[in-house]
Amino acid sequence: MPKIPFGPTYDEMLSPELIAPEVRSKAIKALHDDELNPINLFNITWKDSTNKVRKVVLPPALTGIDANVVVMLGTGFPSGSHKVGPAYATLIEGIVDGDITASHTILGPSTGNFGIGTAYISKLLGLKAVIIMPDNMSKERYERIKKYGGELDLTPGSESDVILTLERTHSLMKNPQNKALAQFELLSNYRFHRHVTGGSAIAAVEGVGNGRIAGFVSAPGSAGTIAAGDQIKYAFPEAKVAALEPYECSTLANGGRGQHRIEGIGDKMCTLIHNLLTTDFVILIKDEETIQGLKIFHDGLENPYGNVVTSKFNEVQKYLTNTGHVYNANVFIISKVFWDTLTDKEREAIKKAAEESKVYQRKLNEEEDQSSVKYLTEKGMKINDLNPGEKDKIIQILEPIYKQVSTAIGGDFVDRLVKAAK
Ligand SMILES: Cc1ncc(COP(=O)(O)O)c(C=O)c1O
Repeated sequence: MPKIPFGPTYDEMLSPELIAPEVRSKAIKALHDDELNPINLFNITWKDSTNKVRKVVLPPALTGIDANVVVMLGTGFPSGSHKVGPAYATLIEGIVDGDITASHTILGPSTGNFGIGTAYISKLLGLKAVIIMPDNMSKERYERIKKYGGELDLTPGSESDVILTLERTHSLMKNPQNKALAQFELLSNYRFHRHVTGGSAIAAVEGVGNGRIAGFVSAPGSAGTIAAGDQIKYAFPEAKVAALEPYECSTLANGGRGQHRIEGIGDKMCTLIHNLLTTDFVILIKDEETIQGLKIFHDGLENPYGNVVTSKFNEVQKYLTNTGHVYNANVFIISKVFWDTLTDKEREAIKKAAEESKVYQRKLNEEEDQSSVKYLTEKGMKINDLNPGEKDKIIQILEPIYKQVSTAIGGDFVDRLVKAAK
């Protein structure tokens, strides 16, 4: 009987709380401390250490539509990409079936992220990997693959020339020593995304809006991720599924011509695993729009209202969120050497002045906040509050820092500060 391979089941990837607690806690520790430890296979999940899906909820104030948009984040997967999921599923199914053994070389045809996933998972399972990808992709992708011990076999072109990587893979497969993780045609890719990504998407909307999914959008490369749409429709039959394609090279929409620069989404091909019968719409996005979208997130800044007004940030930023996450006091400090030279009378006078100016400064601060909000609103800025519960998340994340600071400067002082802030 073949040896049972090491790694999580589909159910454990969807619900990591099913993993034996001692294995899970070792895996969580290794995620940041020991990236190449095979225990990281148990980190292949959309969920964080508290078993919640990593996500961002984009509020209507930002998107301009009534529905909440929930973005699932793949960065928490080992290697930083959700493509470790299909790479693992495809490899482990091959091993369970006896089709792949330790002596095989694994081929990963890709435009990048699947290649990173294949190199990484092969490394954890002790297999040699060759990644076949276009030679004009970003430098970071090649470096990451090499870091995981993957060999590169580059074909000419970029994102829009993925067909050449497939031709090269097919020619390498003539050697029985090579086994391809054919993400474009193997249903293990579909299975991972239908069960794990789809199930996680359903979990991600719990407690958001009405808790149902009205629409699911995925940009197909291999068309694995979009398989989550089938699970979502199973749970919410009214849900619609949309495939997002590059405007400069749209395939499902109009046959695929031209070149584009959105790395990760393939084109000029409709893959064998794409269940087109359940794709309701195709949406086209221009290269430039993806950059503008990124800018919205990366160009954000953190400031008190007054600074937004004096720096005229409202001229380049449309939205402002009142987070209330910082109370930044300007502390009145005096040198001890100087203080010791003062008479008691002088010290009392300074203390009295400091007390008076504290009250006055806080009053000015509050007035400035109010007048700034009024001014910015009049200038057309849209000001909103954090979604309920988001501030609690910030407080939760900061909890270890309170503990750290309490040890350094005394718990009583920190408790008083926290109480005053509330
Ligand atoms: C950022 C990003 N989006 C979408 C995709 C496409 O996913 P799939 O191959 O599952 O269709 C990829 C694939 O690498 C990707 O990296």
